[in-house]
Amino acid sequence: MEKIIEKTYQFAQHYHENDTSGHDFEHIKRVFYNAQKLLDKTQKADPFIVKMSALLHDIDDHKMKTDGTVAKTFLQTLDLPDQTITQILQTIDAISFSKSGSKPHFQTNEQKLLSDADKLDALGAIGICRTIQFATQNKFPLFDETIFPEQNLTREKYKDLTRKTNTSINHFFDKLLKLHSAMQTPAGKKEAQKRHQFMILFLKQFFMEQNALEWLNYLDRYLEKIN
Ligand code: ADP
Ligand code: NI
Repeated sequence: MEKIIEKTYQFAQHYHENDTSGHDFEHIKRVFYNAQKLLDKTQKADPFIVKMSALLHDIDDHKMKTDGTVAKTFLQTLDLPDQTITQILQTIDAISFSKSGSKPHFQTNEQKLLSDADKLDALGAIGICRTIQFATQNKFPLFDETIFPEQNLTREKYKDLTRKTNTSINHFFDKLLKLHSAMQTPAGKKEAQKRHQFMILFLKQFFMEQNALEWLNYLDRYLEKIN
């Protein structure tokens, strides 16, 4: 099994080389590492399935613009039972935020672990950097004082990269500040809480430096609502 994981690691490394959409290999490595840490604390999941799905989880992400079968095609070269391949692909398929939302219902512990490992990397200092990187890549502004986040953001709207409400700062309200409540494992929840608090500190400082007092109020009211 270790050989297969090693081979998959190299495949993902090569595949995510040169990516600037927030899915570079550093992200994959961090999710793989988060997954290992969560596995150490949550014994009731199959480590092989979790590790393989961590390495392959963003191969066919819709932002990568593949035909959706790259991970499957690779897995079929590995001499694994069909059932294992299906399990890995189902684990990956279950976890996207745009599909499962902020209150996901997962079928298996492997899905819960992978979801937590991936979500942790959208939070905290790294999460802030990835958001700015993604937004810059898509030519969204960093911040616009006059454009507040969308009130009732549907899944379709969330995915629409052309909407005017897409700014780096609005992404915190659209997604990042909701993520801690989507965590599934006790160890994941604990770490998410720390990273959540760090983002709140960042936003407060940002709004202070920007002299955006209305936004400080907006943040306070938002936090009251989600807590
Ligand atoms: P993941 O790889 O964690 O599943 P996504 O594919 O949803 O995450 O997005 C990659 C990174 O870009 C994440 O850190 C996410 O928070 C960020 N991101 C996604 N959508 C936006 C957006 N509309 N504006 C700014 N950042 C975004
Ligand atoms: Ni990811």
